[in-house]
Amino acid sequence: MAVLTFRNEPQINWREKENKDRIRHALNNVKEQFSREYPLYVGTQEIFTDKKLPSYNPSDHEEIIGFVSQANTERVEEAILAARKSFLTWQLKSFEERASYLFKAAEVMRSQKFELMAWQIYEAGKNWTEAEGELNEAIDFLEMYGRKAIEIGEGKDLIRLPGIDNRLEYTPLGVGAIIPPWNFPLAIVVGMTVSAIVTGNTVLLKPASLTPVIAVKFMEIMKAVDLPEGVINFVPGPSREIGDYMVAHKDVNFVSFTGSKDAGLHIDEVAHTRIPGQKWIKRVVAEMGGKNGVVVDKSADLSSAAEGIVSSAFGYQGQKCSAGSRAIVHESIYEQLIDEVVERARSLRIGPGYENNEVGPVIDEKAFEKITEYIQIGKEEATLVFGGKSDKEAGYFIEPTIFKDVNSNSRIMKEEIFGPVLAICKVTDIKEGIEIYNNTEFGLTGAIYTNKRDQIEYARKHMDCGNLFINGKCTGAMVGVQPFGGYYMSGTGSKTGCLEYLLNFVKAKTVSENL
Ligand code: NAD
Ligand code: ALA
Repeated sequence: MAVLTFRNEPQINWREKENKDRIRHALNNVKEQFSREYPLYVGTQEIFTDKKLPSYNPSDHEEIIGFVSQANTERVEEAILAARKSFLTWQLKSFEERASYLFKAAEVMRSQKFELMAWQIYEAGKNWTEAEGELNEAIDFLEMYGRKAIEIGEGKDLIRLPGIDNRLEYTPLGVGAIIPPWNFPLAIVVGMTVSAIVTGNTVLLKPASLTPVIAVKFMEIMKAVDLPEGVINFVPGPSREIGDYMVAHKDVNFVSFTGSKDAGLHIDEVAHTRIPGQKWIKRVVAEMGGKNGVVVDKSADLSSAAEGIVSSAFGYQGQKCSAGSRAIVHESIYEQLIDEVVERARSLRIGPGYENNEVGPVIDEKAFEKITEYIQIGKEEATLVFGGKSDKEAGYFIEPTIFKDVNSNSRIMKEEIFGPVLAICKVTDIKEGIEIYNNTEFGLTGAIYTNKRDQIEYARKHMDCGNLFINGKCTGAMVGVQPFGGYYMSGTGSKTGCLEYLLNFVKAKTVSENL
């Protein structure tokens, strides 16, 4: 199959009136579709269950985006049977054929770009540019994993002995449970699901309960490209009931999870408890939280460091796994940099994502309460220099909030808050800064701003994270450009957006043919 070289999806030019008109039109159009009911997809069936979960607009929590059917354990059992059945044929298709569904899905996504962004804006509280970034990432995953699967399908030549041809070939694992988070409700759902199916597996997809409608939109696209039934079985439902059930199930071969540290550790434990009848060790791919940070030296370009800190801390309200919620700053530029950071934070408009404000709502009341509690903790632990107020009357809005003089061992310096809260601390040199940066249980993203080559080399070796950015913000890793993922309590060390990620979902088989 001739496939063009991968290139990242180009960005929309928001200065063009036509594009602004298109997103406004899509927002109106999508709003007219609010409150519809959505089914489960199990094998050949679309099932509307009696129990349906409403999904709310976090910018305006009276507004219901849609009602999504909820699976129970019996439906999960049916979904596992359907997945096992479709695995029999899906695993035998060529990598090229499976990849072709991903390429077609990418085309459909492009054609529905503005509408898909509108769903994200309403359901996840993103602004236009955050929604666009995520949509592009979803398309990139489809294009990248399709191409890389074709490469994997070619297998690997090994050392050839006289008269013996040796090859390494890859075969799928079986049936997987795909458990994504709400914060990248399209990109991560797409990336986790298609990486598993393009390598020949069939799956149960259990979307996050806060953003299931966007996941339905993905299912509709896969249906539109005629993906065989039963390859993706869509089973939204309560995680404690059906999540544990599918993770523990003897007929599930692997679990692909992205979410919080606590849920990830729990899932890892459940998955690795072998139960009667289970014939394999389940593979667990877990991408978890972070307490990322930006280290700034006195030699840095202060305005670009301030820009990087603000966008890492407050982009999508700090609700990215990659968010930079700490700034660790050299003492000689400390106050000056804080002034610049505060100035930039002051200029951010707060309000609904659909009006394209820079700071939108946090996802729900639980997140709102948790973040405001952390702001209270911050007030006890450090000095508030900006923000701190919140308002949940219409939507869950929290001001970008900045604390300075934070002790490196304090809670707001070590725990993932997952909201627009930035902790800043002062250091006397960069080695101390990197030591503080490393002083958490996580290892996801980090950034350093400096103009000194020796410090850059020191950071390369000593900043202990999966994604290190030098003189750039620590969010916004792009597919293929910056394969993404962390280790320690940030996950099992897999890297999304590249060939290596696909190897999580295959087993390697060496075939030696005597000629
Ligand atoms: P979460 O852990 O609450 O939920 C994630 C998913 O797991 C959801 O679908 C949820 O329903 C499900 N789940 C929870 N408990 C389960 C159980 N016992 N069995 C089966 N499924 C279960 O996380 P969240 O609030 O949705 O997402 C935010 C978190 O995700 C943050 O910690 C963020 O850092 C992390 N995250 C990490 C990455 C990464 O690539 N490392 C990317 C995005 C988000
Ligand atoms: N690609 C996303 C980011 O880096 C996860 O923010």
